[in-house]
Amino acid sequence: LAAFFRPKLLAGEHVLVTAGPTFEAIDPVRGITNLSSGKMGFAIARAARAAGAEVTLVAGPVHLPTPRGVHRIDVVSAQNMLEAVEAYASQTTVFIATAAVADWRPAHSAQHKIKKDGSGQVPALDFVENPDILARMAASAQARSGQLYCVGFAAESDDLLAHASAKRQRKGVPLLVGNIGPATFGQDDNALLLIDAQGHQELPRASKAALAHQLVAEIAQRLRHTRA
Ligand code: CTP
Ligand code: CA
Repeated sequence: LAAFFRPKLLAGEHVLVTAGPTFEAIDPVRGITNLSSGKMGFAIARAARAAGAEVTLVAGPVHLPTPRGVHRIDVVSAQNMLEAVEAYASQTTVFIATAAVADWRPAHSAQHKIKKDGSGQVPALDFVENPDILARMAASAQARSGQLYCVGFAAESDDLLAHASAKRQRKGVPLLVGNIGPATFGQDDNALLLIDAQGHQELPRASKAALAHQLVAEIAQRLRHTRA
């Protein structure tokens, strides 16, 4: 009962979360994507809502139920995801980028299904780089003036601390969260490494739901410091 009357950790905040993979079309029936399940991002959206925030969840193609009280926008490609994020940016105070955004998309998406021509020839695909949604948000005037707090995620195959620290600086975000391997695609638990300007700290292996609540508390604490 005491907890009920305690002010909620993210009361008054507008949290925007990206989650899941993106899908980049090659033609109307094919595309490239990745194995992100979206579970961590959905768990964070749910935990932020439970902490009293208004939450918007921009989700790539995943099969997960919408957390109660969360406003969900489904998108397909990285460009769609960027447009949805930009539409909500001005009202956002905390941006949490958990999405596994495809780094590249086919330079040309065919209008009609690409057919085999019988000769055994294979199609050649050209790629272009997708926009970096997190880096753009972190470079916005809102973020630079301290009105928007940005959190990034990283999954690295080796040397997590070094790669993730470099990524934090490159993206210009105050907090970067590393997935402590092995790759946890689709699993219900995870372990996280939090990296900020002060150093790093581990959240040991636990359910994604439990980790999401801990991460929300860590973010709330850092918000109080940056606003103080
Ligand atoms: N991200 C993003 N838009 C992109 C690529 C990444 O918003 N086009 C975000 C992810 O949601 C994540 C963070 O940036 O929060 C790091 O993503 P990651 O794929 O680890 O970093 P990249 O900069 O793409 O570098 P690389 O994949 O080469 O390691
Ligand atoms: Ca990437």
